[in-house]
Amino acid sequence: MQVNGYKPKIVAFCCNWCSYAGADLAGSNRLAYPAEVKVIRVPCSCRVNPMFILRAFQRGADGVILCGCHPGDCHYTSGNYYTRRRMALLFSMLDYLGIEKERTRVEWVSAAEGAKFAATMNDFVQTVTALGENKRLEDLRCKK
Ligand code: FES
Repeated sequence: MQVNGYKPKIVAFCCNWCSYAGADLAGSNRLAYPAEVKVIRVPCSCRVNPMFILRAFQRGADGVILCGCHPGDCHYTSGNYYTRRRMALLFSMLDYLGIEKERTRVEWVSAAEGAKFAATMNDFVQTVTALGENKRLEDLRCKK
């Protein structure tokens, strides 16, 4: 997705057991999602420290999405419950800092939901593209 030559940088943290497998399924089924999405595989959604998200924004990400197993399906029993609480706090803090809340999102995507993964990424990239570049937390030392 591109508007006036602008392509957003999107970071997608995906848990190994569901969302990453969902991304894999989307690929196997040839469901397209934008190349701007850079998937980072993590063992569980709760492995994503809020600092990872802040750091991604500092280093130039325009949007960060975190995908994990559906509540109740986490491979480690309750990891995604921690994620849900942690991200609710982080997102309210980002909102306070002036980062549009549409730049961050948590989605539950199971290994059987390749179509949902592709649709979610398409929608997220479209939303972030409409918002434009994120300059709020950008660390200019990280710019090339
Ligand atoms: Fe997927 Fe915990 S293993 S959210």
